[in-house]
Amino acid sequence: MVTRPEMDLSRFPYLQGNYAPVLEESTFDEGEGGLRVEGKLPENITGAFMRNGPNVAWQPDHYVYPVDGDGMIHAVYFKDGRVHYRNRWVRTQWFKVEEQLKRACWGSHGKPFPVDEETIAAGGSPSPMKNPANTNVLLHGGKLFALFEAGFPHIMSPDLSSADEYNYDGLLTAGEGLTAHPKICGRTGELISNTQTFTPPYFTVQIFDKSGAHKRSIPIHGMHRRAMVHDMQICGDYIVGFFAPAFPDIEAAMKGKNPFVWEGDRATRIFVVHRDGGEPQWFEAPTFFSWHFCNGFQSGQKLYIDYVWMKSMPVSNDLGTGVESQMRNMHRLTLDLKSGAVTDEKVGATYCEFSRSDDRRCGQPYRYGFAAAATEAWGESPNHGYNGTIAYDMDTGKSTLWDYGAGANAGEPVHIPNPDSENEEDGYLMTYVNHPKEGRYLAILSAGNVGSGPIAKVYIPSRVPNGFHANWMNGLTLNG
Ligand SMILES: [Fe+2]
Repeated sequence: MVTRPEMDLSRFPYLQGNYAPVLEESTFDEGEGGLRVEGKLPENITGAFMRNGPNVAWQPDHYVYPVDGDGMIHAVYFKDGRVHYRNRWVRTQWFKVEEQLKRACWGSHGKPFPVDEETIAAGGSPSPMKNPANTNVLLHGGKLFALFEAGFPHIMSPDLSSADEYNYDGLLTAGEGLTAHPKICGRTGELISNTQTFTPPYFTVQIFDKSGAHKRSIPIHGMHRRAMVHDMQICGDYIVGFFAPAFPDIEAAMKGKNPFVWEGDRATRIFVVHRDGGEPQWFEAPTFFSWHFCNGFQSGQKLYIDYVWMKSMPVSNDLGTGVESQMRNMHRLTLDLKSGAVTDEKVGATYCEFSRSDDRRCGQPYRYGFAAAATEAWGESPNHGYNGTIAYDMDTGKSTLWDYGAGANAGEPVHIPNPDSENEEDGYLMTYVNHPKEGRYLAILSAGNVGSGPIAKVYIPSRVPNGFHANWMNGLTLNG
């Protein structure tokens, strides 16, 4: 194992508290000195809960949340009611060169610096932009992916010991990225994804069949420039994306300034395109921004889209620790394909983010949405975060919250279907929790009874920092 020197992270608000990286890769089984299970683990699930997130490996010069930091996967494998944990960095080509040279060789996305000769001689990419593969982790077509929206996906081995860039047999070309938020259609198993470029058409939907083979490219005409389009949603026969006025600003980034610009006097435009292809239909809505969808579905000529609404897009360069201080709520947007009408309503008043639903219902009618929730004021706690998990009943408009306790940090709640039931509410939710008194654990909740709290906890001896996206890798074991 490479020995890492202590870092001075005092200048970086988003590397404090439970945002700070862990410097070791650990492996734990159940037993003394290892994992401790409280409650009863589900015995009928086989697979792995994996979560990706930024975890700087070497002293950074600059740090922008939420785009910088080397990807690290925290994984809990389930089989026969037993669990195994491991955390591993995503072994990208950038990570491997920095391990060899024992230092950071690339700058931040908010302050890139020229790549030096020693790095290039060691086989490092001369481009100042690094692909940290830090945003999402997903299983599709038998391949385990680490995803970052401004770069190629990486295929990892099931035990996380290797990672290789993957361009879908030449589909992706240098400089392109594949979104970190593709959706797997609950009906067909297709992966609906996108590539984004700095030249027209700026945004192209990419559809892969159930096995991962490329099926179709659909350029989205009507965008006048590249924007921060972070997520996308399947709605029955259609695909929906939000084109908010959040734009990358490379020139500003090269000067160490905010790498994104928010032009709040422009409307947020929404595109809808048929999955078979054709020209998109555009809608216009009062300005808003969203990082994440919850789900969407189609009913006749109407599309219903549930998502986390926020007023504008903040990034840490401008706002220091205040990236989360602006309210965000669950909303339902309705698009009338016939009349062009757009309506939007708030589903709940609780601050929420990282919204999810039963993936078997992705793009289809569904009832329950889930999200990380915060009921403490941001900034009041030195280790502020999402202290709860919330479940929304989209049919009744009611929500149920479980509060892990003051100062706790809970992550994205992933729905794991119960293999013995088609019902959403019979599944499980899993999320990592960092509790100031109880320690770190994987929380397992009943999807239909979130208000009763975890039915089981898997306590982990090492720390799991706050991170981004997680998924359930159904059927995956350490060996494949
Ligand atoms: Fe995201």
